[in-house]
Amino acid sequence: MVTSNSIQVTTPYQIPSFQLNVSLMLGLWSRTMIAIKATIRYCRDSYRDFIMKMRIMMRNPHISISRKCRITGKDAYQKIKIGEGSIIGDFTFVTVSEDQNCSQKVPSMLEIGESTYVGELNNLRAAGGTIKIGNNCCISQQVTLVASNHSIKKGMNITGQPWDVSKHSIYIGNDVWIGANVVVLPGVTIHDGAVIGAGTIVNKDVPENAVVVGNPMKLIKYRR
Ligand SMILES: CC(C)(COP(=O)(O)OP(=O)(O)OC[C@H]1O[C@@H](n2cnc3c(N)ncnc32)[C@H](O)[C@@H]1OP(=O)(O)O)[C@@H](O)C(=O)NCCC(=O)NCCS
Repeated sequence: MVTSNSIQVTTPYQIPSFQLNVSLMLGLWSRTMIAIKATIRYCRDSYRDFIMKMRIMMRNPHISISRKCRITGKDAYQKIKIGEGSIIGDFTFVTVSEDQNCSQKVPSMLEIGESTYVGELNNLRAAGGTIKIGNNCCISQQVTLVASNHSIKKGMNITGQPWDVSKHSIYIGNDVWIGANVVVLPGVTIHDGAVIGAGTIVNKDVPENAVVVGNPMKLIKYRR
């Protein structure tokens, strides 16, 4: 009995050991399941990636695609053409996919000519438009080629909007050098022999043999 001058001692709540074991086991089980699912997803992605590159290389012999380059898009291997002697470097990301939200179908393809070098860490996005690169070009590093814009109508999430079909696709001629960190926007044509300086945002067509730099892009000279 508790009196006014006695100290009340409360026993801490004891978790029964079997309850402890059950929650421990459940925790362990759910972590194992998460790890198994993540491993399956990783293996499936690696397998798909490998098969995609194999299919592309079988259709386009005598090319080199880095093991570390990533190519995505449903049946992308059918929409990619790469000429003899061309190279795609490490960590370059290529996506070729049709737009499911868009009623007006614009062909999404990637075509690369012969002996063209696409270096490391580039981002080639042929979705909602086509990207064509000619022969003997050099696409340096961290270059983004984006073939179409999202529509930007007010009142609808950007991710749910179809591609803007008013301006799409990128055409790059032969013997073009695109410097590091360049962004080429949809609807642009870069003609034969052009040089695009590092960090340029290409928002307009570039004439033959022109050397352009900067943002806003300006013409500094012609190749001689
Ligand atoms: C475009 C490029 C080839 C021009 O080289 P260049 O003929 O030697 O030109 P210059 O250095 O004489 O520059 C001429 C003018 O353009 C400017 N300029 C050159 N490149 C520029 C660039 N990328 N961005 C902004 N301005 C640039 C220069 O500052 C100079 O301006 P000024 O006359 O007011 O002084 C070179 O500057 C470049 O950008 N190379 C890309 C390098 C690269 O990305 N390599 C990746 C590995 S493959």
